[in-house]
Amino acid sequence: MNELLIVFFLGFLIFYVFNKRKNQQYYNKNLEEEVKKQLLELREKDKLLIAQSKLAAVGETLAHIAHQWKQPLSQINSVVLNIEADFEEKKLSQKKLEDHLNEIEKLTFYMSDTITSFNNYLQPNDKKEVFSMKDAFDDAFELIYKLLESKRIVCKLHIEKDSLVKGVKKEFVQALLVLLNNAKDVLEERNIKNKKISIEIYLENNNAILKITDNAGGIENEFFDKIFDAYFTTKPHSQGTGHGLCMAKMIIEKSMHGFLSVQNEKDGASFCISLKER
Ligand SMILES: Nc1ncnc2c1ncn2[C@@H]1O[C@H](COP(=O)(O)OP(=O)(O)OP(=O)(O)O)[C@@H](O)[C@H]1O
Ligand SMILES: [Mg+2]
Repeated sequence: MNELLIVFFLGFLIFYVFNKRKNQQYYNKNLEEEVKKQLLELREKDKLLIAQSKLAAVGETLAHIAHQWKQPLSQINSVVLNIEADFEEKKLSQKKLEDHLNEIEKLTFYMSDTITSFNNYLQPNDKKEVFSMKDAFDDAFELIYKLLESKRIVCKLHIEKDSLVKGVKKEFVQALLVLLNNAKDVLEERNIKNKKISIEIYLENNNAILKITDNAGGIENEFFDKIFDAYFTTKPHSQGTGHGLCMAKMIIEKSMHGFLSVQNEKDGASFCISLKER
């Protein structure tokens, strides 16, 4: 009787183990298929996300290019108007015409350069170089001084000590243009009488400093924390995208590992770029 019980028990045990293994195999197979399905879904979602972020990057690039082109386009427009006026007043000498055309050539060259540099923005391969802060400022000023002159804005450059810094020079020039353009805009907007922009270049605790200060009255308290945010603007829709300062901060802090800060001084806003001296 005992033997019968043992045989029965063993039989039951074998049946139980066999059944459990079969169930386990079935369960494993199901699990494997489920994991495969989930993986496929995840890959599809990844593809979608990549496509979406590429699209966002393209949109951002277009906004950057539009931002960079706004100023040279309005300058070209004003040069053309000057040619027209000189012609009508019979003051268009060959020399004057050559000057106007050179100005247009310089501006269109800059515009085509921004496209190249923003192609690189999507696939960064622009080499960083060591350059002088003053040289970069001269490059930016060369592109904007006529416009500042036409708005009767006086620029004062004070160089205590020029320094070498490291980065993509073209990008740095763009950041300077953002600051100079903003100063010009606010001086015009607020109809300031003796419009002034001061630029100081000096060295402080081994940091190369470039400061741009205007006399337009400064940034309103309520906007102080927002001005570096993407798309923040106090300008009418047709005039401002709110892209400038966000882009300048990205260039100075992400690409060049420095700092871009702002404070209100006695007469107006003062933007300070601080970079490690090379
Ligand atoms: N020098 C300044 N003085 C006072 N406010 C300023 C100054 N510079 C910038 N701001 C404020 O910061 C805001 C954001 O500037 P930002 O350059 O990012 O965009 P924007 O000039 O409005 O538009 P855009 O994208 O066309 O440059 C401006 O709208 C303005 O209110
Ligand atoms: Mg701006």
